[in-house]
Amino acid sequence: MQSAFGKVILLGEHAVVHGRPAIAAALPRGATASAEADPAGPLLSVPAWGTMVEPADGSDLGRAFAAVVEWLGAASARCKVIAEPQIPAGGGLGCSAAVGVAVARALAAFLGRELDTSEASEAALAWERVIHGNPSGIDNLIAAGGGVGVYRRGEPLRPIALGLPVRLAIGDTGTRGSTRAMVESVAQQRERRPEATDEILDGIGALVDSGAAALERGHLRVLGQHFDLCQALLASLLVSTVEIEELCAIARDAGAFGAKLTGGGGGGSVIAVAERPDDVVQAWSGRGYSGFAVELAGR
Ligand code: PMV
Repeated sequence: MQSAFGKVILLGEHAVVHGRPAIAAALPRGATASAEADPAGPLLSVPAWGTMVEPADGSDLGRAFAAVVEWLGAASARCKVIAEPQIPAGGGLGCSAAVGVAVARALAAFLGRELDTSEASEAALAWERVIHGNPSGIDNLIAAGGGVGVYRRGEPLRPIALGLPVRLAIGDTGTRGSTRAMVESVAQQRERRPEATDEILDGIGALVDSGAAALERGHLRVLGQHFDLCQALLASLLVSTVEIEELCAIARDAGAFGAKLTGGGGGGSVIAVAERPDDVVQAWSGRGYSGFAVELAGR
């Protein structure tokens, strides 16, 4: 059984698409996949999504699978890859990249190969290009290698040594965002209003630099302030929603140091940093939202 990590972006989503840095952290769960012999292969089955695809079937998933098959030179692999996502799709938690990495590893293992982290990440980037259009590369890198670090497009992850474990509450808005649509919308804003949009992206990038220092020093209250500022800047890029704002407000009322959307926005998930994330999860559930608590440990 092959596996891959999910992820949260702590600071810097959207700005990272446009060359600014971002901080990402792996979640313990992401996706698993295995491959079994099948004469009709290569095939990909994702039972949780009720779907089975083949590379040439024209579906988005089929084309993403085709990109991985091509990257691996695996067109003649007579197998069916069965993938099991462990996090919601469209939830801003890097589900598609995790499935891409797990699928690439399972297909390679069927062919007797073991992919190293950078190979698994590259194979999943080919997958992500189909699903997302213009991925920054952050999701596939974390899905393959795990850890917590600062990422800038085209550069390796710079690991962050956490000063303290970071406790997060992760809440689900119950609505699904399209990362692709949100990324395209920001790109359009940048075309229409280049200076104003770049100022916002620069502001998010600046938060990443000082947020990384807060993480290294274990200053979680300061990190929370960075979350709040980042959320305000993301909202000004029109990627927030009523539900996201509500989850953030509930989290702050329940004692969180700060809260923001994570990932593409337009729906999906919210993260809150808190001393007692379970209090936040409970407050969300009292208002009809589901969530869970995680503790991030750097490597
Ligand atoms: O929605 P997710 O989990 O795929 O995260 C997307 C993060 C963005 O910065 C919006 C896009 C990207 O490719 O980095």
